[in-house]
Amino acid sequence: MTDDYTFERGYVIYPEADGEDRSAKAPFKPVPTGIVPPERYYSANEAALEMEKLWTRVWCWAGMTHDLRSVGDYFRFDLGRETFIVVRSTEDRIQAFYNVCPHRANYLVYDDFGKIDRGASIYCKFHGWRFNLDGSVREVKDEHTFPPEVLCGMKGLKEVRCEVWNSMVFINQDENAPSLEASLDVIVGHLANRDFSRMKIYDEVYGVIDANWKTAIEAFIEFYHADDTHPQVIPITSTLRTQYDLYDQGTSRMIIPTGYSGDRAKDPAVVTDALKGFVAFFGGNNDEYTHLSGAEYREALADTLRKWAVRNGHGDLFDQLTDGEVTDDWNYHIFPNVTLNVFSHSVLIQSWVPHPSDPEKHIYRALSLVLPVLDPQQHVMDPASFAVSAEKGWKGENRAPRRYPEKPEEWGTVLSQDVERLPLIQKGLRSRSYDGNRLSMSECRIHHYLAEIDRYLMK
Ligand code: FES
Ligand SMILES: [Fe+2]
Repeated sequence: MTDDYTFERGYVIYPEADGEDRSAKAPFKPVPTGIVPPERYYSANEAALEMEKLWTRVWCWAGMTHDLRSVGDYFRFDLGRETFIVVRSTEDRIQAFYNVCPHRANYLVYDDFGKIDRGASIYCKFHGWRFNLDGSVREVKDEHTFPPEVLCGMKGLKEVRCEVWNSMVFINQDENAPSLEASLDVIVGHLANRDFSRMKIYDEVYGVIDANWKTAIEAFIEFYHADDTHPQVIPITSTLRTQYDLYDQGTSRMIIPTGYSGDRAKDPAVVTDALKGFVAFFGGNNDEYTHLSGAEYREALADTLRKWAVRNGHGDLFDQLTDGEVTDDWNYHIFPNVTLNVFSHSVLIQSWVPHPSDPEKHIYRALSLVLPVLDPQQHVMDPASFAVSAEKGWKGENRAPRRYPEKPEEWGTVLSQDVERLPLIQKGLRSRSYDGNRLSMSECRIHHYLAEIDRYLMK
């Protein structure tokens, strides 16, 4: 790591990596540095413009193939006022449709998840029309009572584009948008060695938060807030020396080096109990690492995690990872509204979706994927909170049910610290005293994705 901080360079975690190397610092991209006007975060006009020009044209993460195992499995995905049904229509095909009956607009499915049994159809509960899994009409009840011109040209459910990357299912309402892969830019290549299908859903939380979706995501694409909002991470990460990389298509990354005492630790040489606890959790013996200082302890964590992977049947995955990929938190922003915190043993996927009618609310969702373990004594760790599973030898055989927290603390220790602050920030944005957000270069990802939104809005 280097100390020669400049705005262009920022902090670099792996200075030996260069060029196409996925660990390399991305070439500098200039970002606007102006004050971000607070109206962006509460104006109804802004929200309407985004709904019309942004959300109808981008790839939106809708769910996981984990929930579409067999033909007829479906989930519902709501985006602002729109609602979609995503269904496995054949063994090798997943399709997405507006979840709206073409007769008189009833929602077709009401549940978040479900299964349409083999041979059955998507059934509208209002007047009983039925649709095949490929969206075609199976039955218009009492069809002979409809004048022919009424049904003429009615093709069934309106389909939207649906593409899958790394078990994540995305939809796009724009027929002319670039492919999902093109929109993900470097992320596809950077995460080619990470296989989300090997992980199981450990937890999922979903709920309405009193803050604009941008107010919220912006608290998750910088680590500048970590010392003060999440002080528990100080002994195990570097909060200042985080690497921020900006890519095309509004995407970006931060690498949070993890498993050592960083700049904010009282004495970085000391191996703290938190660091020892991390190593011990993954089955490492801290006595083997007494030659390492707190600042060097990532070596102990990398060694421990590689042994953990072999014991638990994931040695093949870890063989493809650098030590940095084994220890660190690789945080990617998929434009516009999804982040991935990619650890070697788990991934946290979060999304922030606009509320159907109130620009000062959004729908927050956090889904934890965790590699199952073979070691019957091994607990697993939730990447959302670093909380440890009650169960040993976790296999993840049953998909954790989606939870709908009502109180901030039900989001888990780390997320609750963010969730608690967001409604206050949203109110602060409305104060007469407040003229806009002033961002450091540790917050450059915010300027970067806002500039991409502006391109969609043609501002
Ligand atoms: S609204 Fe669906 S059958 Fe009438
Ligand atoms: Fe946070």
